[in-house]
Amino acid sequence: MRKIFVVLSLLLLSVMPAAAGAAGWQEGLAPPGVPAAAFPAPSRKVAGIVTDTWRDEQSRDQAGEAERVMRLLDVKPGLDVADVGAGSGYYTVRLARRVGPQGHVFAEDVVPDYLDRLARRVDAEGLAGSVTLVHGEPHDPRLAPRSLDLALLVHMYHEVTQPYGLLWNLRPALRPGARVAVIDARKETASHGTPPELLRCELAAVGYRQTAFYELQESTYLAVFEPAAGPASPTAIRPCSASQT
Ligand SMILES: C[S@@+](CC[C@H](N)C(=O)[O-])C[C@H]1O[C@@H](n2cnc3c(N)ncnc32)[C@H](O)[C@@H]1O
Repeated sequence: MRKIFVVLSLLLLSVMPAAAGAAGWQEGLAPPGVPAAAFPAPSRKVAGIVTDTWRDEQSRDQAGEAERVMRLLDVKPGLDVADVGAGSGYYTVRLARRVGPQGHVFAEDVVPDYLDRLARRVDAEGLAGSVTLVHGEPHDPRLAPRSLDLALLVHMYHEVTQPYGLLWNLRPALRPGARVAVIDARKETASHGTPPELLRCELAAVGYRQTAFYELQESTYLAVFEPAAGPASPTAIRPCSASQT
């Protein structure tokens, strides 16, 4: 009888998805930040969440995407990096290998199913010690204060329903000198991209200054920002409209 119970328990464990509190993901690494209601909505369309990856990983590697981005951002061993909107983890696993055991990757997303799958991938690739999976909210990545040297937002900005909240609540997680890097396509937000001028305007509205800009493959780009002087409170944020930029 006891043997049957043990076998059944093991079977159950093997089919159970990773869940909050288990070896999988965590429900935020910081207490909730400023609530969503405090922020203006974006004055442009927001794309829906339709997939956990931008392109198949083979074609991205053939284009040298992650290697080039990590070189441009000078990602090196020991760095603590957030992969915000990590999805299936194209960047998570490559960043984890690059930052090594002295660094860490915080892979954050808002979709529990995506985090479950990513937890299994991280385990399977032997990277569990270098990656922490975090369930955030659309207006708040729930990352720990002063935990990051770099936050990377890849092909996800146009899906953020509360971009002003996300950027505002991300800021306490940045250490002095930390950067925020955004990769997106040169398309309208409804078509799963963000025009670079609109991105610059929305980040400036929350108090981030663009410091570098690079063209990538397939009409995509990498824009790098640093925290700068900004509005005193969320109610002082003036949303950008697509036509203004
Ligand atoms: C197209 S996928 C890109 C995934 C990955 N970054 C890549 O480059 O392949 C967009 C991801 O952003 C996530 N996402 C959308 N809105 C988000 C938000 N407000 N905060 C965090 N993640 C978000 C989605 O759940 C999805 O996993």
